Amino acid sequence: MEIAVTAGPAEADVFAFAVLDPPRDLPDLDPRLAGLAESGELSGAAGSTCVLHQDGGRRLVAAGAGSREQLDADAVRDAAAAVARLGIDGTLAWLLDDSLPLSAAEQARAAVDGVVLGAYDQGRWKTGKAKPKQIDRLLLVNGNDEALELAQRAERVAQWANRARDLANRPPNDLTPVRLADRAAEIAKGSDAVSYEALTGEQIRALGMGAFAAVAQGSHNDPRLIVLRYDPPGARDDLVLGLVGKAITFDTGGISIKPSLYMEDMKGDMAGGAAVIEGTGAIAELGLPVRVLAVVAATENMAGGGAYRPGDILTAMNGKTIEVINTDAEGRLVLADALWYAREQGATHLLDLATLTGAMELALGDLYAGVFANDDAWRVQVVEAGEASGDHAWPFPLHRRYRRYVNSNFADMKNASILRQGSPALASEFLREFTGEGPWAHIDMAGPGFLTRSRGDYLTQQGGTGYGVRLIAELAQRLSESLR
Ligand code: BES
Ligand code: MN
Ligand code: ZN
Repeated sequence: MEIAVTAGPAEADVFAFAVLDPPRDLPDLDPRLAGLAESGELSGAAGSTCVLHQDGGRRLVAAGAGSREQLDADAVRDAAAAVARLGIDGTLAWLLDDSLPLSAAEQARAAVDGVVLGAYDQGRWKTGKAKPKQIDRLLLVNGNDEALELAQRAERVAQWANRARDLANRPPNDLTPVRLADRAAEIAKGSDAVSYEALTGEQIRALGMGAFAAVAQGSHNDPRLIVLRYDPPGARDDLVLGLVGKAITFDTGGISIKPSLYMEDMKGDMAGGAAVIEGTGAIAELGLPVRVLAVVAATENMAGGGAYRPGDILTAMNGKTIEVINTDAEGRLVLADALWYAREQGATHLLDLATLTGAMELALGDLYAGVFANDDAWRVQVVEAGEASGDHAWPFPLHRRYRRYVNSNFADMKNASILRQGSPALASEFLREFTGEGPWAHIDMAGPGFLTRSRGDYLTQQGGTGYGVRLIAELAQRLSESLR
């Protein structure tokens, strides 16, 4: 999608603007607007649209953004998504309104998010569908250089987020660990600065990754440790952003098998890994001068004659022993070896993303992810990058006194507890054992990573959300600015 700014009147197939509830100060674009506001057909209610057909075939759309007090970037995303979903071929003009309590640049960025993410269709496996309409040009009316720059960046990042959604939505019979690795290889092929490597099950075992290997052993699909390295010219060499992702391409729970209700959603248990892979693609396309090491642990978690069991004791790559209490607590096992590997390979600042605990979803629902970190400044940077990008993130505590939750009588630690308490904090305390020296943050995105039902907002769909891609790109952007 091409993006341009214009000061004057815009040639467009659709001309859209956000309108507050109640509608006031309507733009001078059509004499009928006032009457529609009077009758209530144009209300400004969040998510509503009022369409006017004008002479010359242009459609004028008033997109409801809700009340002035509640107007934020998400409200603009929702309004723009509602417009995009009307089905538009050609050029969309979007009016930036300086009477709104949000800067023109922030409006532009949010409108792009809404248009690109809102037009996403999760139903690509349906046959006999008509070719979808496509907005190929976005004109930001009353935009300035800053608005254009933010909008162009947001557009690229949102396309990568949609690619992460594609991965999460792909069915688990198609998206195996090998196919996920293929996708990472494709990204590396598209950029001179990105290199790709994927370790096989045999190599994972040979490296001593006993925790990752145990989860993988129940599946007929070989696992992959997917590694992408982004080494842009001119980057500072004392900072390597280590992005680590959980990519369970299907989580049955293993021998501690899950109930069948909603088990199909566990195809989305690779959403953290998808965010890491596509987020790295976004950073590379933006050409940000920050080195990135992306490590994604991809495997199925299956039940069968070869599967690992509760009671097994595993030895992770760092030499620590783990008693398995529950084979459904597999994410922390694969992350343990992936985190250690990333640190060994030179990551200075670690961030992992994982759909890790059902309790995180119970606590925060489908909107916010929880953030745990061993370093206050790093946690603040991660949370702020999330909030600025639309990937909402909220800080949670990490405390040594939670360590007792993973104490085992047989081994150095256990992977779960029979206590039904603080399971996201327990999991974080477990992961901490594998993070080595230096800042590390953990994002538990079990809620927002994959939607069981639509949130009714600009993402519009059930399924993958691309959560984490925008956060990762924003974090790298901020790191690269702090390097200048
Ligand atoms: N992938 C799940 C967590 C999950 C649940 C993500 C629901 C998204 C929606 C994870 O592997 C898991 O099963 N966690 C268990 C751990 C427990 C057995 C200690 C959980 O949280 O119930
Ligand atoms: Mn599980
Ligand atoms: Zn899982």
